[in-house]
Amino acid sequence: MKKFENKVAVVTGGTSGIGLATAKELIAQGAKVMITGRRKDALEKTALEIGAIPFVADQSNIDEIEALKDETRRRFGSIDILFINAGITGTLSAIEMATVQNFDQVMNINFRGAYFTLSKFIPLLNDAASVVILSSNTAVMHNPNSSVYQASKAALSSVAKTAAAELASRKIRVNTVSPGPIKTDILAKAGFDEETLKNIDEQLMNAIPLKKKGKAEEVAKIVSYFCGDEAGFITGAELIMDGGMSL
Ligand SMILES: NC(=O)c1ccc[n+]([C@@H]2O[C@H](COP(=O)([O-])OP(=O)(O)OC[C@H]3O[C@@H](n4cnc5c(N)ncnc54)[C@H](OP(=O)(O)O)[C@@H]3O)[C@@H](O)[C@H]2O)c1
Repeated sequence: MKKFENKVAVVTGGTSGIGLATAKELIAQGAKVMITGRRKDALEKTALEIGAIPFVADQSNIDEIEALKDETRRRFGSIDILFINAGITGTLSAIEMATVQNFDQVMNINFRGAYFTLSKFIPLLNDAASVVILSSNTAVMHNPNSSVYQASKAALSSVAKTAAAELASRKIRVNTVSPGPIKTDILAKAGFDEETLKNIDEQLMNAIPLKKKGKAEEVAKIVSYFCGDEAGFITGAELIMDGGMSL
């Protein structure tokens, strides 16, 4: 019997990076997994490759979150695992140079959208279900030029703990994984050119005591751990995995 045999999971942002690695891990452990993303072609191709069910839904759009919930209920009735992972970095700038457009886009996806995904899925969670929120080590850091992203993740980490307190009476556990730099396409998608990406990488290597980036598969294993019975006494926890960067 596999660890997640007969379990149903929803993973937001499952077409690449951490969400994809986690969807694969949950499927390997026997779960039925629905993945979301905004890019229909990429989503359907990925879902076919890994044996997941695709559903196009933009996490910044409340109607699309509602549609995702309705489709999940229609297909499965209820779920056992909710991994709220979709997120973007947005652009980097000093607070003085901030734009309303970047503020709204980052907050709408990383915080408002993640919040209402949690809110709307609560009625679909089975008792003893597991919710994992993907935050970031930057939720506890205060680096210049990243105020909006950091604040979006700090807000999310806070809500995860409140949710853990609210849902404990139904034995539902809510935990947060907060990685440092992980090898994914997230920074390339933010529109940085090759030169800037190289510079960011060099700065990160100096800032990470273990002198390496993490792997999406390593994050997936931690998410899987939080969802399993071995973590049955853990709720409201936030696990920082960042090679010591936030020390
Ligand atoms: N990589 C890191 O260093 C790192 C560190 C700490 C935290 N994180 C967090 O980890 C999470 C995953 O990031 P990643 O590194 O795996 O990035 P990624 O490879 O860019 O993956 C992001 C995933 O989220 C989806 N997504 C983005 N915006 C979305 C939206 N509005 N609605 C629905 N899906 C959306 C993307 O698909 P579409 O583009 O098709 O929508 C993709 O599947 C994010 O929350 C990020 O903030 C990453």
